[in-house]
Amino acid sequence: MKNTVATFKKMKENHEKISMLTAYDYSTAKLVDQAGINGILVGDSLGNVMLGYPDTISVTVEDMIHHGAAVSRGAENALVVIDMPFMSYQASVYDAVVNAGRLMKEGRGNAVKLEGGEDMCPQIEAIVKAQIPVVAHLGLTPQSINAFGGYKAQGRDLATAKKLIHDAKCVEAAGAFALTLECVPAELAEYITNELSIPTIGIGAGAGCDGQILVYADMCAMFSDYKPKFVKHFGNVGEVMRNAFKAYDDDVKKGTYPAEEHNYTIAPEILKEVINN
Ligand code: KIV
Repeated sequence: MKNTVATFKKMKENHEKISMLTAYDYSTAKLVDQAGINGILVGDSLGNVMLGYPDTISVTVEDMIHHGAAVSRGAENALVVIDMPFMSYQASVYDAVVNAGRLMKEGRGNAVKLEGGEDMCPQIEAIVKAQIPVVAHLGLTPQSINAFGGYKAQGRDLATAKKLIHDAKCVEAAGAFALTLECVPAELAEYITNELSIPTIGIGAGAGCDGQILVYADMCAMFSDYKPKFVKHFGNVGEVMRNAFKAYDDDVKKGTYPAEEHNYTIAPEILKEVINN
């Protein structure tokens, strides 16, 4: 059955944990979906993981539409959330609604996600009024990397912890149906989770959140540029792939691939005629 915003609401009410992973393409989305994961985020982390940028700043609306549409075609049951990339919503409410609309119409998402708290509430309200469900994102918001001056856990002192709680309440009041909390102390994330009626989806925010999300390439050990503290490797897919590529390289170089069973055939009499002519 298709997961919807109503499923997420019910899961919070029933104290059932929500699972989410990122995906950026059709084949991976299908595997994630077949595993029974509740939601797929087409994260702007595609800038790092798929496109090799050092951050998410250069990701465009066109990138998100292209990858979002591929994921949506592979996600039968998972709710598909597509990230709004940097500067697709910050400059104006108008931009936010138009770009969220494109991610839904062209990217075929079921919801959009954007980063920011109180300052982004006019955008959240307007997108929700346009009947587009919104996931908010607080804590370490990677689009603010230049303002933060690095990738650091957030909400570890009194002022920033209080601001996080305030922002969480603001985005809920603005109509967000879920909230991603990234790199936030576990106790603070649990407190926020208990204060809100919408589900919190944690990444580096402890087990007290209503759900969890990871970048699939991190948890499969496929992305090796860096490993954040919160990442657990659930499988060594990177090594399995590298070994497969190596075995292919060996076979090609030895001439043992392709073998007889991989060949197409031609009737001997036709071949004879081709060669003799
Ligand atoms: O872009 C992304 O993958 C994200 C997750 C890390 C939450 O925003």
